[in-house]
Amino acid sequence: MYSNAGQRPKNGGAEVRKVTVPELRGRKVAQGESAIAMVTAYDYTMASLVDEAGVDAILVGDSLGMVVQGLANTIPVTLDEIAYHGRAVQRAMVRAHVVGDLPFMSYQVSPAQAVESAGRLMKEGLFESVKLEGGLEFAEHVYRLVRVGIPVMGHVGLLPQTVHAMGGFKVQGRGSEAEEKVLTDARALEQAGAFAIVLEAIPPDVAARITREISVPTIGIGAGAACDGQVLVCTDLLGLTTGKAPKFAKRFADLGPSVVRAVSDYVSEVRDGSFPSAQHTYKPNHSGTNESSVIHASDSQDRLHAFDEPLAIDFWN
Ligand code: KIV
Repeated sequence: MYSNAGQRPKNGGAEVRKVTVPELRGRKVAQGESAIAMVTAYDYTMASLVDEAGVDAILVGDSLGMVVQGLANTIPVTLDEIAYHGRAVQRAMVRAHVVGDLPFMSYQVSPAQAVESAGRLMKEGLFESVKLEGGLEFAEHVYRLVRVGIPVMGHVGLLPQTVHAMGGFKVQGRGSEAEEKVLTDARALEQAGAFAIVLEAIPPDVAARITREISVPTIGIGAGAACDGQVLVCTDLLGLTTGKAPKFAKRFADLGPSVVRAVSDYVSEVRDGSFPSAQHTYKPNHSGTNESSVIHASDSQDRLHAFDEPLAIDFWN
C-alpha cells in the first residue's frame, strides 16, 4: 500500500526512448540488429524491475492464469483480467513496449470480435499491441486488426489455448507435414501484417527455417537460438515457480527459496518480538505516546497534507 506506486523515476530525469513497433519489426538479427529480449510481467513491481533491467518488450500473457491465478491452463482467463494487469504494468513503463494477450474466445469467433476485443485491450489495458495464438485460420483477423491500427504479434507452434485439442503441452512442428504447417502459419501471419511472431516449443531447425524465410522477427520460447528474440515467463526466469517447469525455462536466479527464507525470518521475528525494533518504529510524539501523525491523521484531508509537509518526511525510509 505504501510503495511508491505511480512515482517511478523516469531514469533520473534523462530522456529514455520508448521501444516502438517499427523498431521491433526492424530487429531481424540477420540485418545486424541485436536480439529482442521479451519477458512476461503482470504487475507494477515486476514490470518496473524488468523494464529497468532493459527488456525490449513486456508481455502481459494469458499465462497469468497459471502464474497469478494458479489455474491448470490459460483457458479461463478473461479480457477484463488482461486489461487489469495491463494497466498495472503500463504505470511502470519507461522504455519497454507492452503487449497484451488476447485470451481464449475473445477473438476466435470472427475478425469483428477480434477488433472489438483488441480495441478494448488498447483502451482499457493501455496496451501498445496485442498478441493472438494461431496461424492461417486467423490471418484475416490479424489483417483487420492491423488495418484499424492495432499492431499484432502472432504466435504459432504450441498454442496453450488449444491445450485440450493438442492433448497436453507438447512440442509441435515435428515431422515434415507438421513443419510445413507451422511455416505456412507463420507466413500467413507475416502476410496479414503481424510485426513479430512468437514461435513456441518447436524444433530449433524448424524455428531457424521460419526465421530465415519470413521478414518479421521471430521470438522464440523453446524454439532454439536461431530466433530473432526470446521470451520467457518472469517467474520461470527468476526461479519463483513452484512445481514442474518446461525444459526451455532457464532459471537465471533461484529466488523462490530466498522468498521463503525472508518470510520465515519475518514470521520468527514477529513471534519473538524482535520486529519491529526501534529502527522500524516512528519516534514518540510530543505527548510522549508512540503515535505517528502521518499514520493516524484523523481525516483524509490531514492525510493528504501529511504527505506534503516536512512532518511526513520520516514516513519513508
Ligand atoms: O501467455 C504467455 O505468457 C505467452 C508466452 C509464453 C509466449 O504466450
